[in-house]
Amino acid sequence: MKIAVIGTGYVGLVTGTCFAETGNDVVCVDIDTTKVQKLSNGQITIYEPGLEKLFLRNLKEERLRFTTDLEDGIKEAQIIFLALPTPPGEDGSADLKYILGVSDQLGKILKDYKVIVDKSTVPVGTAEKVHAAIKKNCKGEFDVVSNPEFLREGVAVDDFMKPDRVVIGTSSDRARKIMNDLYLPFVRQGNPIIFMDERSAELTKYAANSFLATKITFMNEVAQLCERLGADVDMVRRGIGSDERIGKRFLFPGIGYGGSCFPKDVQALVKSSQEVSYDFRILNAVMDVNEKQKLHLMPKVKKYFKDNLKGKHFALWGLAFKPNTDDIREAPALYMIDALLKEGATVAVFDPEAMNNVKQLIGDKVTYSESQYDALENADALIIATEWNEFRTPNFLKIVTSLKNKVIFDGRNLFDIAAIRELGFYYESIGRAP
Ligand code: UGA
Repeated sequence: MKIAVIGTGYVGLVTGTCFAETGNDVVCVDIDTTKVQKLSNGQITIYEPGLEKLFLRNLKEERLRFTTDLEDGIKEAQIIFLALPTPPGEDGSADLKYILGVSDQLGKILKDYKVIVDKSTVPVGTAEKVHAAIKKNCKGEFDVVSNPEFLREGVAVDDFMKPDRVVIGTSSDRARKIMNDLYLPFVRQGNPIIFMDERSAELTKYAANSFLATKITFMNEVAQLCERLGADVDMVRRGIGSDERIGKRFLFPGIGYGGSCFPKDVQALVKSSQEVSYDFRILNAVMDVNEKQKLHLMPKVKKYFKDNLKGKHFALWGLAFKPNTDDIREAPALYMIDALLKEGATVAVFDPEAMNNVKQLIGDKVTYSESQYDALENADALIIATEWNEFRTPNFLKIVTSLKNKVIFDGRNLFDIAAIRELGFYYESIGRAP
């Protein structure tokens, strides 16, 4: 099939590459000339495990190409994916200016029948708006389909190539058949392609992310309770997660969820609810709890150092909002850094992938270390904010020799409490006894 993908951000690049990987001809369109040049020259613009190999292979096979010219990009395509940003506006609702802007342009250049697919996370009713924006100038035939994306950063290629389900919102039989043919190679194991109306598909995306954010937040609150009642959240997690109705995944407590999706999507769903006079109370609570959770370690740190962090020096491991990404949007580590600096402390940080992004954002407010162990030099304590694999079984001897005090504040529950106590550490984590 011939496919165009408008927008080469995270979702667009993964979508374009993975469709090329199953043999389709894909043209990716972006207004950013530098980016298009880089991508055309084989330079990948995002960090995502496994993507580069696929990207280079399909570029070489000429199944994947990049252009800034919208008209040229969509000329041959049967299906046009819109993978454009929907940043939160001032009031928290998703801003559709990019999507509607491109729709407007498409209307002027569409000639033969095409399926236009919303891949971005968009509020309910967007498919209708896109349809109207195209229709305004368009003489050709077209259908607008909603096809939300459920991939996770860090495992995006796997999520795309082997999705748990594909959700397609359309009321057109013609578009339904085309979308079904396109996705069949991705669901060979028998996972469903679920067809529904456009509005339900749009809401499915927000409901999925909001539900997961709620699940995490629920466990973060259980963790709070565990600390006060002397229970162990790891045990409670295993105890409830083995009930299939609850499920084992997304029950890990920590210092809050971050990233470019959960915070934005929960907020947007609250806003959409308000617009139809519904107060989505549980999600208001989720946002509130998560904001506080990002700083959950702070009172513990302050208590240990008797409320005086002035002149104290901390090592901080992990800056990305989660492992296997360089994404620092809404990362809990940034909130911790800010709070520590405000208290007059200094911080040396290490992250395997996200240091450049943090440097661009906050410059020399912190020290950037060459390795996780360099960050420990003369630090009064170690704080862990992201569960990168290399932090899971560190060389404790090196930690002991570099840190001034044997003190660890762990926002991701990486270590076994008994084992770490045996090594003589003062160890605070989430929802477990100190
Ligand atoms: C999320 C969804 O999981 C994807 O299905 C969705 O497609 C994507 O948003 C999106 O809308 O584009 P992502 O933001 O990449 O994916 O990251 P997740 O792996 O879902 O993690 C989100 C946050 O939850 C992270 O901060 C992570 O540390 C936190 N988390 C996750 C927990 O605190 N505990 C858990 O048990 C799981």
